[in-house]
Amino acid sequence: MCGIVGYLGQRQAAPILLEGLQRLEYRGYDSAGVAVIENNAIRLDKKVGKLVNLREKLNGSMPQSTVGIGHTRWATHGKPSDRNAHPHLDCSGRFAVVHNGIIENYITLREWLISKGHQFRSETDTEVLPHLVEQLYNGDLVETMLRVVKKVDGSFAAVALALDEPGRLVAARQDSPLVVGLGEGENFLASDIPALLSHTRQTYILEDGEFAVLTRERVEVLDRGGSRVDKKIFHVKWEAAQAEKDGYAHFMLKEIHEQPRALRETLGGRIAPDGSGVVLDELNIPEQQIQDINKIFITACGTAFHAGVVGKYIIEDLARVPVEVDIASEFRYRNPLVDDKTLVIVISQSGETADTLAALREARRKGARVVAVTNVVDSSVAREADDVIYTHAGPEIAVASTKAYSTQLICMYLLGLYLAQKRGTLSAEETARIVGQLKKLPEKVSAVLENGKEIKDFVRRHVDCPSFFFIGRGVDYAVAMEGSLKLKEISYIHAEAYAAGELKHGTLALIVEGVPVVALATQETLFEKTVSNIKEVKAREATVLALAPHTLDEVAKVADEVIYIPQTHPALTPVLAVVPLQLLAYHMAVARGCDVDQPRNLAKSVTVE
Ligand code: G6P
Repeated sequence: MCGIVGYLGQRQAAPILLEGLQRLEYRGYDSAGVAVIENNAIRLDKKVGKLVNLREKLNGSMPQSTVGIGHTRWATHGKPSDRNAHPHLDCSGRFAVVHNGIIENYITLREWLISKGHQFRSETDTEVLPHLVEQLYNGDLVETMLRVVKKVDGSFAAVALALDEPGRLVAARQDSPLVVGLGEGENFLASDIPALLSHTRQTYILEDGEFAVLTRERVEVLDRGGSRVDKKIFHVKWEAAQAEKDGYAHFMLKEIHEQPRALRETLGGRIAPDGSGVVLDELNIPEQQIQDINKIFITACGTAFHAGVVGKYIIEDLARVPVEVDIASEFRYRNPLVDDKTLVIVISQSGETADTLAALREARRKGARVVAVTNVVDSSVAREADDVIYTHAGPEIAVASTKAYSTQLICMYLLGLYLAQKRGTLSAEETARIVGQLKKLPEKVSAVLENGKEIKDFVRRHVDCPSFFFIGRGVDYAVAMEGSLKLKEISYIHAEAYAAGELKHGTLALIVEGVPVVALATQETLFEKTVSNIKEVKAREATVLALAPHTLDEVAKVADEVIYIPQTHPALTPVLAVVPLQLLAYHMAVARGCDVDQPRNLAKSVTVE
């Protein structure tokens, strides 16, 4: 995820900006840049790749200035390149802006700005910001930024620097983090606290809709209307390593908690403003080819494969096309029945998994159209697929995937609805109903995250259990697979996921007194059947933890414990149901003293076969 830094003071800005960017490296990035005011001009230096490339560029000609902004970019719109790196300038070179987040209406704004004569140099959504500042500038950067932000939809943290106002920096926050560091005769800005810690521990944590106006002597925080906010100083007590995790004990926990934002950003701009359907402008599949699709293959590895299993249920149900889902390392070698009427969907967080990439190549070789769902812009998978839908989860650092999975699920819904729209398989009312519920998922995930206590209690009672079972039917079975994998990966407990109705055909032999069974019962139409399966394991004296929406609280009569999730459309429950399972695995791993973020034998990205 992008990192922002800003400095205004008595010292040289560039070394402070570079050090701040280095502290933000853990957020993931693919290019970096700084802008300062030097010799009465804005000087811009940016470079694709690691910070060392930017440092090399500056070596021997370090910018001389006491004010500047810097950025590490994690590409979302436009591939990683020098040109797309931030900061971005307006046409006249009088304004520089850095930005983190996604500007959802950037295409409309860009067209409007082009019609006003602005010339764009990059493919980024961000570049609309400096041009908007130029267009609206009235001699006061603060007033201008208040007006600019009113025109922008989406999530952002942005900082602007104006040549004509070298004594101040103006920052705005909406949905993306931004922190002010308070110094003596100098002030700082950063996306995250670690970038500030070597200079100050006195901070203002900006809230959504707030603006910060920095001069060397003071910092004012304003609301959307430009009125002053009486901001409380937050004194940081954490050490640097802890601060990178936002105070969370592990990256995995931080990433679990980032899901509401990640879902919001993945949905951003992809739902029609009137809520009647989805908009996937990134897909360029010819109309006739969509009508001709007679089979879909989804192929992926690990957690991404599990997102594909949910995808199969969803896409088949919504778009009424047969969907096969296959592990990439199997697909590539089994001479799959794929031709030019097959749509192949590959899912990969990193976009670099060797087996997934090989499966993609095999599918294309056989003439299929390939749509990639990936989190990393310009990754190998993104480059080689015919079309790409990006998950906007931000960099995932913990090996065990969490926010990437839930955003992959969002892409399955978007794709399912898109194909249904094009093929006319879903009524307008049902489409609008699902879309309406889709939009509410981020806030519902936040609600699930607030109820972590029951899970911790359950973990405390079962920390020594050597084996767990996860059962469910339909999409619940798909989520059970992911819950079981999470537990195995990070807590090293043996876990198996079973289609609840299949249990009696063998695995029931393993169910004896005290064996924990996590039963997912989120589907009303399958509820009675799942309850029967819960009774089967209860009869063998298993301990059952059930997961169900409040509307199905009857489950409490058969299960030992129940974790409730908010009600939503039945197709969408996986996004909510997976969260307690992620937390279960997390707390179990912590309780067992495991290395949560770096589990033994596993790698984040497996680029070998
Ligand atoms: C590795 C990771 C998993 C991940 C899988 C697929 O095994 O440990 O967490 O799900 O690769 O990765 P991808 O980047 O293709 O989604």
